[in-house]
Amino acid sequence: MPQPDRARHLALGAFFHPTGHHIAAWRDPEAQIDAGTNIDHYLDLAREAERGRFDFIFLADALATRHGNLDALSRWPQYMAYFEPTTLLAAMATVTRHVGLIATATTSFNEPYNIARRYASLDHLSRGRAGWNMVTSSNQNEARNFSREAHFSHADRYARAEEFVQVVKGLWDSWEDDAFLRDRAEGRYFDPAKLHRLDHEGPHFQVRGPLNVARPPQGQPVLVQAGASEAGKAFAAAHAEVIFTAQTDLQAARAFRDEMRERLRALGRDPDGLKIMPGLNPILGRDRAEAEAKRDALAALIPEALGKELLAPIVPELDLSGLDPDRALSPEILPATTNASESGLATFRRHLAEGMTLRQIWTRHANARGQNSLCGTAKDVADHMQEWFEAGAVDGFLIQPSVLPTGLSTFVDAVIPELTARSLFRQHYEGQTLRDNLGLARPANRHAETGPHAAMAIL
Ligand SMILES: Cc1cc2nc3c(=O)[nH]c(=O)nc-3n(C[C@H](O)[C@H](O)[C@H](O)COP(=O)(O)O)c2cc1C
Repeated sequence: MPQPDRARHLALGAFFHPTGHHIAAWRDPEAQIDAGTNIDHYLDLAREAERGRFDFIFLADALATRHGNLDALSRWPQYMAYFEPTTLLAAMATVTRHVGLIATATTSFNEPYNIARRYASLDHLSRGRAGWNMVTSSNQNEARNFSREAHFSHADRYARAEEFVQVVKGLWDSWEDDAFLRDRAEGRYFDPAKLHRLDHEGPHFQVRGPLNVARPPQGQPVLVQAGASEAGKAFAAAHAEVIFTAQTDLQAARAFRDEMRERLRALGRDPDGLKIMPGLNPILGRDRAEAEAKRDALAALIPEALGKELLAPIVPELDLSGLDPDRALSPEILPATTNASESGLATFRRHLAEGMTLRQIWTRHANARGQNSLCGTAKDVADHMQEWFEAGAVDGFLIQPSVLPTGLSTFVDAVIPELTARSLFRQHYEGQTLRDNLGLARPANRHAETGPHAAMAIL
């Protein structure tokens, strides 16, 4: 079977929460119950993702536990106690050779130097497989772990993010690719003309540089973005190479992809340099009845208090506690805007307008946090992926298994062969780096483009 054309095959990411994406996954007997602190579980997942020839693994992150009703929280381990993701990806890098390694880091509660250094290191130690999901954080509680009473406003956090990423890119260009001579005979380790200080002076950051890590093997780790507000889309158009996005409707997904590709063109970027990958939560069975039984069994494991706790961060301004979970509610109960996620609020509003009850919303949300959830056979899931891909609505999908490790293995064993048989997915990795496999160009170093430089006399 010929290898499918890279531009014409799906990109696939595997997004892991410790026990799986479903809010009650940990109660499923197939889940790895102590997953949040079980390194062997994660190393097995990494090997399994590589067996499935996924482009990358993605780990989300927040710099706070979830806050709220402790009784409800004690029934939901996600984001309560788990590994820091870049440390975990570094461990996963040692047992894999091809699969990419992407983690979230927020631009709101980090400094650019730390992030530039951490992801450059991850790129080196994985030999070119790192990616950074740049978020501005919608979690209000992070602020209180970073000496602030409240989060930055939505506009401020995107202004900070813009400057942040420019500093990070600048730091990654500190060393030219061929700066390290390592010339024993001449006694010169690096060429001083190929080392560049940044001397950034901006409203949010003053960063002298240079970075104390050599230029990343990929030039820059792959840049990922997942904000869907106007500011988020403008930021993504300027910087993102991969977009994670919640899309549940084919036409809306196509309109979003068309819009983003147009925004890239307007900024002089090649639209093919952007991979748009909505989330997809597959609940698989040998037949539809088995898949539906799995879905319903998981839904039955969610107590009411936990269901409401799941919805609370989407609308922190609204008190859900007294609301009847089984009655249709007017969208009027929602605030006009939020300082949390604007796109999350818009989805919530749409569900209420469609007549969904709170229980129906949290049951849907419990699977994959507002991402598409598909219940059926491997063929059903492959049909959906093919339809969306061929309609130009996506470049690939971020697969979000409900229960781990079994949800990943089932996908690898059942759906991947279905996709390769249709020439929609690779049979072997194309290259060494995450960029090679995604078909993304390696960015040139800005200093190399401008020719020879005088060496700094003093660093
Ligand atoms: C697949 C996916 C993964 C995300 N991962 C994270 C994450 O790890 N940490 C985080 O704080 N936000 C995460 N987000 C949220 C977005 O990055 C963003 O902060 C949120 O959508 C609010 O931004 P907006 O107002 O621009 O929509 C994720 C969103 C999606 C769709």
